[in-house]
Amino acid sequence: MNIKTINTTPFKDQRPGTSGLRKKVKVFQQEHYLENFVQSIFNALEGYKGQTLVVGGDGRFYNREALQIIVKMAAANGFGKVIIGRGALLSTPAASCIIRKYKTFGGIILSASHNPGGPDADFGIKYNAANGGPAAENITEAIYKLSLNINEYHILETTDIDLNTLGEQKVADMSVEVIDPVTDYADLMEQLFDFRAMKELLTSGSFKMSFDAMNAITGPYATEILEKRLGTAAGTVTRGKPLEDFGGAHPDPNLAHAKELVALMSGDDAPDFGAASDGDGDRNMILGRDFYVTPSDSLAILAANATLVPAYSKGLAGVARSMPTSQAVDRVAESLNIDCYETPTGWKFFGNLLDAGKITLCGEESFGTGSDHVREKDGLWAVLFWLNILAVRKQPVAEIVTDHWSKFGRDVYTRHDYEGVSTVGANTLMQELRKSTDELTGKSFNDYTIRHCDDFSYTDSVDNSTSSHQGLRLLFTNGARIVYRLSGTGTEGATLRVYIEQPEKDPAKLEADPQESLSDLIKLSKSIAQIEKHTGRKQADVIT
Ligand code: G1P
Ligand code: ZN
Repeated sequence: MNIKTINTTPFKDQRPGTSGLRKKVKVFQQEHYLENFVQSIFNALEGYKGQTLVVGGDGRFYNREALQIIVKMAAANGFGKVIIGRGALLSTPAASCIIRKYKTFGGIILSASHNPGGPDADFGIKYNAANGGPAAENITEAIYKLSLNINEYHILETTDIDLNTLGEQKVADMSVEVIDPVTDYADLMEQLFDFRAMKELLTSGSFKMSFDAMNAITGPYATEILEKRLGTAAGTVTRGKPLEDFGGAHPDPNLAHAKELVALMSGDDAPDFGAASDGDGDRNMILGRDFYVTPSDSLAILAANATLVPAYSKGLAGVARSMPTSQAVDRVAESLNIDCYETPTGWKFFGNLLDAGKITLCGEESFGTGSDHVREKDGLWAVLFWLNILAVRKQPVAEIVTDHWSKFGRDVYTRHDYEGVSTVGANTLMQELRKSTDELTGKSFNDYTIRHCDDFSYTDSVDNSTSSHQGLRLLFTNGARIVYRLSGTGTEGATLRVYIEQPEKDPAKLEADPQESLSDLIKLSKSIAQIEKHTGRKQADVIT
C-alpha cells in the first residue's frame, strides 16, 4: 500500500456557501485545492475509519477527475468502502437515497447544481451526513476552519479506478463498489407513488407530457422512470444525455433557461404536462398547457393534495418553507391544522425537522421541493407527485392551481435577481438596510405600511442552534413582503435577490400578471434599498 502524505498550504476561500463549496473549475484545478478541501472534510469528521462513503456527481466537467482523487484520499484516510455511481454519476437526490438506504457514514456530492459546466464554468463539492442531508452549519464551519490551517493531506498512490464496470473492486484495503446510479432511486419512487394509476393516465393516449432533462443528470433517471417503468412514449424525455458542459446551456429549470420547453407548452397542441430538472436533479419546474406553476404554489398544492399519494395518504406531520418562499403553504398548513416552519434559505435547514419527524414536506421558492423520503430536494419526485395528483384528479394543471387559489387565495409572487453586481455595493446595500430596520418599522409608503422589519434569524427547534443574518425582511400590514438577501451560491461578484409577495383574495384579480399586480411593490423594493445607487442597475437581470 502506498499512502503518501503531501505537504500543503491553506487556501483562504474554502468556506462552503448555501450548498457546499462552489468555485470555477480553474480554481478547483489548482494544485492541492480540491485535496485540501476533501482532507478538511475528513478532518472535521469523527469515527469514519472502516465505514462507507458514497461518492458521485452530476457529470459536469472535472467530475471524473475529482472523483478519482476523492476515492484515493478516502482509501488513504481509512474508509472501509466507497460506493460510487457508474460513470461517477449520481443525482443529488439519488446520492441522498443511497446514503440512507445502505446506512452509510455519509457522502460527497460533486455538483454546482444549476450553474453552467465546462472548463471555464463552475464546479462544486459538498458533504452529506448519515441522514443523507447536507452537513449542518456547525460541520461546514468546522471544515472551513480546518481548511485555514491545513498543512498536509493523505492520498493513495495507485492507478485510476474503473468507474464503468458494475461490482466490487479493491483499492488497497478499501473496497470500491460501482453501482447502477438509477435503480435504487427508481425503486424508491415506485414505493412512494401510485405507479399503476399514473401508468394508466400516461398510456391512455389522451395525455401527453414532456420532460426536459437539460442535458444534465436526470436524463437517465427520467428515461428509466417515465419511459420504461411508466410507459410514456419514447422521446418524452428531451435533452436526456448528461453532457459535461450541459450542451453550453444553463441547466436551471426556470422560464428564462428552459425556453424550448416553455415554447412547447403553449398553444392548443401543447402537451398536458411539462417539467424540467436542473444540473444535479434536485430542482424542478412544473408547467401545464399555457400555464406556469410557481414553486411556492407547487409546494402549497402538493401539501393540500398529499393524501392522494400513497406515501402521504395518512397525512402530513408538518410542513416547512424557506423564509423567502411565499406564504401559500402556510395557509394550507393552517387549514390542515399542522405546523408550518420558516427556515433560512438552503436545504440544510430542513434536515433536523425531517429527522425529528416534525415535517413531511418542505420547499423553497427556488424550484426546490422535497419530503422525508430523502434529505435533499428532489426534482423528479416533484414531477411524479404532480403526475400522481393528475392521475387521481383528472383535471388540467391550470384548473388544479386556480381551484387552489379560489380556496386559499393566491400569493402573487416574483423574484428579481440582480446578478454579478459589485460585492462592495451589494454588501453596502445590505448593511444600510440592516442599520435602518428600526427606522423603517411603522413607516408608510402610499398604501403600504411596514409592520415589522428585521434581519431574519432562525433558531432550530431541534438542536437550538441559531443562524443569523439570513435576509432582510420588510413585512407590511396587508400581508405583503419584500425580502432582500445575497446569494450564497455564486462564483463571480455578488447577486442580490429581491423577493416580492402580496396575498390576493379578490377573485377578479387572482389571474393577473404578477409583474403588473406587484408593480408598486417592485418600485418600492428598488427605492427603499436604493438598488440603483448601490448596484448601478435600474432593472433586475433575471425575473422569475
Ligand atoms: C440558491 C437558492 C436556494 C437553494 C440554493 C441551492 O441559493 O436561492 O434556495 O437552496 O440555491 O440550490 P442562493 O444562491 O440564493 O444562496
Ligand atoms: Zn441543484
